[in-house]
Amino acid sequence: MKSVLLLYMSQGGHTARICRRICESIAASGGRGEMMDITEATREGVSWDDYDVLVLGAPVFYGTYDKSVFEFITAYRDKLETKPNAFFNVSVVARTPEKSTVEGNRYMQKFLELSPWKPGDLKVFAGKVDYPSWGWLDTLAIQMIMKYTKGPTDRTAVIDFTDWDDVSAYGRHLLTLAG
Ligand SMILES: Cc1cc2nc3c(=O)[nH]c(=O)nc-3n(C[C@H](O)[C@H](O)[C@H](O)COP(=O)(O)O)c2cc1C
Repeated sequence: MKSVLLLYMSQGGHTARICRRICESIAASGGRGEMMDITEATREGVSWDDYDVLVLGAPVFYGTYDKSVFEFITAYRDKLETKPNAFFNVSVVARTPEKSTVEGNRYMQKFLELSPWKPGDLKVFAGKVDYPSWGWLDTLAIQMIMKYTKGPTDRTAVIDFTDWDDVSAYGRHLLTLAG
């Protein structure tokens, strides 16, 4: 049975939810998908040999990624490169078709510039606007990003922009990377 490890960083839980759906999709296709927070992976260690495909997923914060993501990559780049590997990002600007592609999503381009690890496979997902869960400063900043990109600015808005069928399809795609 082919196995996929999803390593992820998630502040608000949405990227974790995406990983969960990917695991479900992999299981439904006869594979084994496991997910692990990168903090846990760093603390507990990873049984790298147990997996056929290694995936890292991270949300975008203020145009970049949490520093723990780059710290993880720096520490484990050699491990990530030993197997077929993939990276996906999650952002709310990716809700539009032109910013949902690897080429059109500037956060993905930024990742490729900043990361010493160049993943073999890339994917962009739209995330979630969740103003009520965010502090006033984050809310204000994201309202500005949304105003600029013609998105929702109502501070009571909770909108899930993720295409969940696409997430399931990505799970099946990851299995094909195992060869
Ligand atoms: C502090 C903060 C900053 C964010 N900055 C951006 C941004 O610059 N561009 C963007 O498209 N989305 C931005 N987002 C939206 C997140 O990428 C989106 O909510 C994602 O689903 C969060 O994933 P998580 O729940 O796994 O943390 C931001 C969210 C927060 C809370």
